[in-house]
Amino acid sequence: QDEACVQRIEEAKRSLGKSTVILAHHYQRADVYRHADLTGDSLKLAYQAAKTDADYLVFCGVHFMAEVADILSSNEQTVILPDLAAGCSMADMANLTKVERAWRELAEILSPEEMVTPVTYINSAADLKAFCGEHGGIVCTSSNAVKILEWSFQQREKVLFFPDQHLGRWSGHQLGISLDEMQVWDFDQPMGGLTPEQIKQAKILLWKGHCSVHQMFQPQHILKFRNQHPDGIVISHPECSFEVCNASDYVGSTEYIIRTIAEAKEGTRWLVGTELNLVSRIAEEFKPQNKIVQFMSPLVCMCSTMARIDPQHLTWALENLANGVVVNQIRVPQSEAELAKLALDRMLTIS
Ligand code: 13P
Ligand code: SF4
Repeated sequence: QDEACVQRIEEAKRSLGKSTVILAHHYQRADVYRHADLTGDSLKLAYQAAKTDADYLVFCGVHFMAEVADILSSNEQTVILPDLAAGCSMADMANLTKVERAWRELAEILSPEEMVTPVTYINSAADLKAFCGEHGGIVCTSSNAVKILEWSFQQREKVLFFPDQHLGRWSGHQLGISLDEMQVWDFDQPMGGLTPEQIKQAKILLWKGHCSVHQMFQPQHILKFRNQHPDGIVISHPECSFEVCNASDYVGSTEYIIRTIAEAKEGTRWLVGTELNLVSRIAEEFKPQNKIVQFMSPLVCMCSTMARIDPQHLTWALENLANGVVVNQIRVPQSEAELAKLALDRMLTIS
């Protein structure tokens, strides 16, 4: 940690006072996370962004999270992403052109009564949330996806779920939908690479997207841990593959993972399948309770795009702000923001 940066950040924060809040996702690197006023998973951060009355929200997360903060905060508030290159590779796997094409292709095969509810994971661009808002759809996060799917099936009998196939599959499975009733929509192929029969029979069409970090976790990592530590407990994020989720004892969002381990008995041993910054942080945090927290993969699996928000970028954004200059503002165009808010508000009401 660069001590000079720490001091500059603290000084800028002092001079900005209550006008500015720093929000950080649980995956944020330690040298940035330590400066956060508000932390959480993507759902909690969305609520916090909607609630804060600070003038400036400095978002230490990825681009889609900052967009959500802009949509849910008031027009007078300003959202800043210290490095605009902090994107999410999964969010980039779906775009409006491809989703609109899927929509048109589905409308050719399905009657209006059979048509899908579009459900977008919050890990997506604002225009996809707007698409869902416009077409009777909704947003979900990893902590409410099952509830949101339930709601979606009350609207229509099928769902198009994007961009994360794994979250969609695991949540569908939780609702009792069989794997045969879920089909992967390969967005690079006409009709998603499916036959009209397959489309008609599917209950959930799963966009062929995934998280490059969570795909690194494998069932054999769990097997090895269970052989070495028969009393050990395994907990994973639902962006992991179905096989990993199925072999885990618990599956849930980052907030759920932290809470579950916090509430567990002293002396327990955990294998955790999610991003490394978070796992390293809680491994330290729970040491005094004699809880052993292990990372699931032998490889380094970090959200490298979120890690672009480093102390240097945070210093730059805060010092500019303290001098009255706004850098890297995230502003979703108004008409898009209104429709996206519709889909987000549907989610926030249900969760
Ligand atoms: P959470 O819903 O746990 O914040 O997950 C967001 C995410 O991007 C995980 O990769
Ligand atoms: Fe996106 Fe994966 Fe990073 Fe989450 S961990 S923000 S899904 S790239």
